[in-house]
Amino acid sequence: MELAQPDMAGVDALIRDRMQSPVAVIPALAEHLIGGSAKRLRPLLTIAAARLSGAQDDSCLKLAAAVEFIHTATLLHDDVVDSSELRRGKVAAHLIWGAPASVLVGDFLFARAFELMVEAGSMQALEILARASRVIAEGEVLQLTRAHDLNLHQDMYLEIIKAKTAELFAAAAEAGAVSAGASPEQCLALRKYGQDLGVAFQLVDDSLDYSGVSKDLGKNPGDDFREGKATLPLLLAVARTRGREDAFWERTINKGDRTDDDFRRARELIIGTGALASTLDAADEYADAAKAALRVLPASPWRDALEGLADFAVSRAA
Ligand code: IPE
Ligand code: IPE
Ligand code: MG
Ligand code: MG
Repeated sequence: MELAQPDMAGVDALIRDRMQSPVAVIPALAEHLIGGSAKRLRPLLTIAAARLSGAQDDSCLKLAAAVEFIHTATLLHDDVVDSSELRRGKVAAHLIWGAPASVLVGDFLFARAFELMVEAGSMQALEILARASRVIAEGEVLQLTRAHDLNLHQDMYLEIIKAKTAELFAAAAEAGAVSAGASPEQCLALRKYGQDLGVAFQLVDDSLDYSGVSKDLGKNPGDDFREGKATLPLLLAVARTRGREDAFWERTINKGDRTDDDFRRARELIIGTGALASTLDAADEYADAAKAALRVLPASPWRDALEGLADFAVSRAA
């Protein structure tokens, strides 16, 4: 998003400044992750929502940096929880510095996010992002306890991805709008946009775990299958092969007995049954809903940019 380039450069400078600490492991580990191939989508939402809402000063830059710190903290924690080996095109931090350091530096980044939010000076934005931090944690724990199960209901899957992913997209946009003094109607519209975009984004991400390649993803495809995580492409394929492949799914997902060949077979079934295509259709619908939410906002280059971002989120899988 060219329009946001100067603001995003400012956000980047803030991120680099605030990841510093006299405790040497912290900037080393943070630099490893922050210097990788990050898309910076969530801070972009904050900037665009704030500028669209007439923000004149640069307090939205601090909120945007805080949003990216919250996101980065969850990634550090998430890769430990998911035993992922590749992140942003680099070896996952826990494999270099260990899980304890990864988790603790995640906590450091969370704390930095809260310092930045306080500096930004909007109690309402602080409230929105504090709540989002809590909801993300709830989503991750809910997933931990419920998502390794073939009988996961699709509405529970949706509840999980709304919490672990869409909530931060929603809060990022809403906090930007709120900090710029937007009307309640406008704040709500931007929140809805972020929420639907976040769901679309995670649906695409869950598809790419079966159809993508690590060079593009910056992470290893197959991570979800290897940890036995029930995502929508898998749940749809299970439903569509009922009576034929029950033993295969039972062994690989519920019993946790999986090989690389099993992953290839699962991928074939997910593609062959159209489960992947249906997941992407669902993502398209959410991206359309996100764009529809923008219609109540005044036409502006920032609004166009947000529309383009919704297209980008789903085009990743094309
Ligand atoms: C990764 O998010 C976590 C998910 C919600 C799937 P991104 O794909 O936005 O990660 P980065 O920041 O660009 O690495
Ligand atoms: C994404 O989790 C959401 C959070 C990190 C809170 P996932 O586990 O689905 O995402 P990836 O595949 O590791 O990026
Ligand atoms: Mg993960
Ligand atoms: Mg995870």
